[in-house]
Amino acid sequence: MTQTHLGGDSSGSSPSGVGAPGRARIAARTLRTDRWWVEPAVTFTLLVAWLLYALIRTASQRYYFVEEYHYLSPFSSPCLSASCVPAARDFGTWFGEFPPFVPLGLLVLPFLLGFRLTCYYYRKAYYRSFWLSPPACAVAEPHGAYTGETRFPLILQNAHRYFFYAAIVVSLINTYDVIRAFHGKDGGFGIGLGTLIMLVNVVFLWAYTASCHSCRHLIGGRLRHFSKHPTRYWLWTQVSKLNTRHMQLAWTTLGTLMVTDAYIALVSAGVITDLRLVN
Ligand code: FES
Repeated sequence: MTQTHLGGDSSGSSPSGVGAPGRARIAARTLRTDRWWVEPAVTFTLLVAWLLYALIRTASQRYYFVEEYHYLSPFSSPCLSASCVPAARDFGTWFGEFPPFVPLGLLVLPFLLGFRLTCYYYRKAYYRSFWLSPPACAVAEPHGAYTGETRFPLILQNAHRYFFYAAIVVSLINTYDVIRAFHGKDGGFGIGLGTLIMLVNVVFLWAYTASCHSCRHLIGGRLRHFSKHPTRYWLWTQVSKLNTRHMQLAWTTLGTLMVTDAYIALVSAGVITDLRLVN
């Protein structure tokens, strides 16, 4: 087999990457014969599609609210701008009119984006599918050097725990929105298909948030003896079960967020009528 140097700084100064001293010198980029590229390709496609959808919907500033049933899209909640429909401003008017294309949920979207971008699962997903670093197990990455998350900007990934705190606040706001969506035509209690879709979405959002690695550490970390902290131990076992499903919950919540927003947009635009179960 031809001996080829696959990675490392071309100057020879970097000891990192697949060409580091002590690493096997293998000419082929990978010896894998399965279709290892399918997973990063599918991940890339789905994430780009979701981001495009979210970008178009949030920039449109339209069809985010159904006043009759108080359905507010999670992409525009909390709606704090004077550009929002008055009935959607349950938390008041904090900002003046937004120019066109500025998302109505501008206040929380950076925190939500930060929470997802720094999530341990999404990091794996986009490192592999966008940066090919590496694209799959046992497949050499195209980059010459590897510094991990030890330098700017990737060292900022350590802020994940703080985004987790923000995500709890946002989940509480989404929960409030669901309670408001138990709203009937005459202003009293009511349930429609939209209420149930919003409810399912918020349940999965809480499951995703509770399954976060930071949450697990917050609950069960820094303890010397679980036996002296039975409540924290029990909570830790519960979030640990959820934690094993973190990847599935990450994808499921992308789906439920999109379905919730799309349903509200279709009802708001008059394309479909909300299926009413009660009032
Ligand atoms: Fe994924 Fe915290 S690790 S949300």
